Amino acid sequence: MRRSKCKMALPLPFTEAIRNPQVKFTKIFINNEFVNSTSGKMFQVTNPATEVKIADVQAGDKADVNKAVAAATRALDFDSPWQSMDASKRGRLLDKLADLMERDTAYIASLEVITCGKPYRDAFFVDVLSSVRVLRYFAGFADKITGKTIPIDGEYFCYTRHEPIGVVGQIIPWNFPIPMMIYKIAPALACGNTVVLKPAEQTPLSALYIADLIKEAGFPPGVVNVVPGFGPTAGAAIASHPGVDKVCFTGSVEIGRQVMKMAADSNLKRLNLELGGKSPIVVFEDADMDYSIEKCHHALFFNAGQCCMAGSRTYVHEDIYDTFVQRSVDRANIRIVGDPMDTATESGPQLDHAQFKKILAMIESGVEDGATLRCGGQRHGDIGYFIKPTVFSDVTEDMRIGREEIFGPVQCIIKFKTLEEVITRANSSDYGIAAAIFTSDIDKVMLFTSRVKAGTVWVNCYNWLTPQTSFGGVKQSGIGRELGESAINEYTEVKTVTMKAPAKV
Ligand code: NAI
Ligand code: MG
Repeated sequence: MRRSKCKMALPLPFTEAIRNPQVKFTKIFINNEFVNSTSGKMFQVTNPATEVKIADVQAGDKADVNKAVAAATRALDFDSPWQSMDASKRGRLLDKLADLMERDTAYIASLEVITCGKPYRDAFFVDVLSSVRVLRYFAGFADKITGKTIPIDGEYFCYTRHEPIGVVGQIIPWNFPIPMMIYKIAPALACGNTVVLKPAEQTPLSALYIADLIKEAGFPPGVVNVVPGFGPTAGAAIASHPGVDKVCFTGSVEIGRQVMKMAADSNLKRLNLELGGKSPIVVFEDADMDYSIEKCHHALFFNAGQCCMAGSRTYVHEDIYDTFVQRSVDRANIRIVGDPMDTATESGPQLDHAQFKKILAMIESGVEDGATLRCGGQRHGDIGYFIKPTVFSDVTEDMRIGREEIFGPVQCIIKFKTLEEVITRANSSDYGIAAAIFTSDIDKVMLFTSRVKAGTVWVNCYNWLTPQTSFGGVKQSGIGRELGESAINEYTEVKTVTMKAPAKV
């Protein structure tokens, strides 16, 4: 993900307010008001670096989703302020939201650090400021969503209108709570839809704070509703609601499959899925060695390995394999893991105990399957869900660690000989979200980029996600695209209007 080039600087030295931000919003946001859950139930949010409780949050379920969908439906009424608003005004509201997020970057980044455990520096520059750029990109799109006039046969005049889909349900994960929210609400709102969003149960706080900024920006009541809660209750209620016209989900393949079934069984609502990955990075002997080692390291260890696009299969040419492995181990060994509020920290803890346990079990399976554990492999420290940066060599695709998503700080380095062989092996996965090649040979680049099955291919770079470029997966990595112009297509329906005309026009 791209760091913003804006002039904003980290608010150093960190004050107590940055280290321990006051949590302002813990209720459900419906119709521009914060309300309690219908059931009266709450759930705890915990800091993964300290294992200390941060807040109790209202737990929304089906009854609350019903209320949110009713509000979102009313906001689309014939004479509602949102329905009758000029498209350019929708753009200005999105821009205003971007201004407010920028104003509060330091605070929002703090909230993200205490719930996700990600380093403050990343939360500030990547999560918050890259989301601001996404808002501004889609703000500009609001009044540029145009149809066509079509020269059809006969005496008719024909044009298309690109209309909002209606009420959009959005279910997001915990690894990038702010970008996931903004990637979904920004194009939905630019196109004139209304939203019912469920943040992940581990990380609801930033979404609730941004909900308050949405109100402050001047969005009419009901346009965005945020229902914190659990997947099988609040999430399933959104996916199966007959009043929701589209559902957009980011998370595991397992739940993506369920969401697709719920969408089909309820009202055949439209669907976007952004799911897992096992992305191959191919490094040739003619690549710049220092540069590619660093890029492959970052591709995997960024966000403690908790990225759908993590470069989690590092294919290295046999001529440089041993040296590449040794130097990747040396790099992993000096990666700074620790307090997310320390600006030198490169990796914080994993999200929670469930992720921590899953990753350690995957590491164990790697050893059992015969891969060579070169460093890490264990817990780091005694408190918090930290795992030491781990590197395996001698990995093959028949091992679980070479095939399944680990979603943790575990680099798997695989040996290959030829370009044709490595393309086949790269494509042998059920996933296809991203891929990359490091080489100075243009012929290899051309063949690889055309043959590899992935939604995004990077050449001599990685993690370079921008608002202007479409992002999403092929195969079981998902359906549909976020960001870029594609997102506008995903949040509009095309209506064809054909008029009888007296003469051909
Ligand atoms: P998950 O897929 O269970 O959760 C993602 C979102 O879906 C959350 O908001 C959750 O509340 C919701 N959800 C869960 N069950 C649901 C249901 N039955 N109906 C509707 N919504 C539901 O992912 P989880 O359990 O947090 O992580 C498991 C694994 O999934 C990770 O280890 C990782 O491999 C993968 N994952 C991939 C992500 C990505 O960016 N593509 C993000 C998060 C997890
Ligand atoms: Mg789950």
